[in-house]
Amino acid sequence: MSTGHQTLKLGVLGSGSGSNMQAILDAIGNGTLDAEIVLVLSDNPEAYILKRAEMAGIATEVIDCDGYVTRFPDDSQVAVGQMLRDAGVDLVCLAGFMRIVKAPLLEMFPERLLNIHPSLLPAYPGLRAWGQAVSDGANESGCTVHYVDAGMDTGPIILQSSVPVLAGDSAETLHARIQLEEHQLYPAAIRKVWAKLQSES
Ligand code: GRF
Repeated sequence: MSTGHQTLKLGVLGSGSGSNMQAILDAIGNGTLDAEIVLVLSDNPEAYILKRAEMAGIATEVIDCDGYVTRFPDDSQVAVGQMLRDAGVDLVCLAGFMRIVKAPLLEMFPERLLNIHPSLLPAYPGLRAWGQAVSDGANESGCTVHYVDAGMDTGPIILQSSVPVLAGDSAETLHARIQLEEHQLYPAAIRKVWAKLQSES
C-alpha cells in the first residue's frame, strides 16, 4: 500500500451489473481519473460486473463465501483482503456489493474502503433505497459515497449528490436517474479521497 506518485490502484467488489465499475473505467479512459482498476471481485459468479471486467482485460476473482447466501465469513474477508493486497490495491471500492464488510477486511484497509449508496444518507439506508424514497413520498433523493465502517451504510460521508423525485416516478425510474448521478459521483469521490491521502503522506 502506498500513496506515492504512482498511479492509484483500485480494487472493486460488486455483486451485480457493474455500471459503477464501468463508470470508473470510463473516467480513467477519458483522463478524468488518474487510476487503474487492477482487480474486480464478486461473490456472484454470474454477475455482469465480472464480464465487464474481463472485456476490459482486468483480473477477476470469484469470492468463495463457503456456501453462505448473505454472510461474508471472516475467512472469506481475509482471503479477499489478501488478494487485494497482493494486487497492490490502494483503495477498495464497493459497487453494488451485497454483503456486509466487517472487521477483518476493514482492518486490512483502514479508511481505504469506499461504498456507493443510492440515497442521501443518513436517509434510507439498506436495501432498495430508491423504493424507500418513492414509498415515503420524498421529493428528493440522491446518492452518497462514504467510507465503510462496521454499520450498514453508516460510515463518514465523502460526497453526495441530490436527485429530485419527479411526479409519476416509480422506484425503477428514480433508480435509473440516481444511477446516472452515481456514475459521476464515484470517480469524483475517488479523486477526493486519493488527493487527501496523498496530501497526508
Ligand atoms: C447502485 O445503485 C449502488 O448505489 C448500489 O447498488 C447499485 C449497483 O449498481 N449500492 P451497479 O452494479 O454499479 O450497476
